[in-house]
Amino acid sequence: MIVILTGAGISQESGIATFRDSGGLWENESIEDVATPGGFARNPARVLDFYNQRRKQLLSPEIAPNAAHLALARLERESSEPVLVVTQNVDNLHECAGTSNLLHMHGELLKARCTACRGVSQWEVDMSKSDACPKCGTTGKLRPHIVWFEEMPLYMDEIEQALESCRLFVSIGTSGNVYPAAGFVRSARSAGAQTLELNLEKSVGASAFHDGRYGKASEIVPDWVDEVLSRQ
Ligand code: APR
Repeated sequence: MIVILTGAGISQESGIATFRDSGGLWENESIEDVATPGGFARNPARVLDFYNQRRKQLLSPEIAPNAAHLALARLERESSEPVLVVTQNVDNLHECAGTSNLLHMHGELLKARCTACRGVSQWEVDMSKSDACPKCGTTGKLRPHIVWFEEMPLYMDEIEQALESCRLFVSIGTSGNVYPAAGFVRSARSAGAQTLELNLEKSVGASAFHDGRYGKASEIVPDWVDEVLSRQ
């Protein structure tokens, strides 16, 4: 099995800002204010507005998957060994490109979660404090289906199982600052996998990988996929 971890760098060339590069989202917004449970409790309107803006941007016609997303979908379709994509991204560009074996460990921008019934619903319009949950009808209990700092990422059991049994672990477009994702390379490597980093530049955890290739995702990811498929 090939396990691929993706981060904001794979969507950068699709027009979605990363978090920690210059001009990134965390340059102008405070994580504590817009991406923690405490920030939401203090000022829900501000947090909802932050995600409303990001949702609107994702749904604008100019945002589309790029060559890197398309190459990973091709890898899943054509590879003789199973491929799992684990993404930290909350956009839907992997699925738009055609990837189906996909886990959104940090949640999804186009979904809402009800803190009353815990139901998750598709949500493509602005969200406000007075909205009703489409599942249970309770008002005032919806939040973006986003994993905030201090919260547990989703699908951790499935991910850990995949890391223990994969032949190859590849990390694409992530700075390696946020755990547990930043630790996946060590888990996969200690279970015997080969490990490869594909990124614009060396991440903070680059030395944990056997190998690294550096450049724009839209160029280095399709090249790597071509190589993998031609070797099978
Ligand atoms: N091609 C490849 N890599 C790129 C490109 C590109 N075109 N543009 C930027 N990158 C790289 C950067 O060099 C950087 O190492 O992508 C990485 C993006 O890092 P971050 O902005 O930190 O994003 P990410 O690692 O996904 O963040 C992890 O942090 O705030 C949270 O929950 C949020 O899921 C996110 C998590």
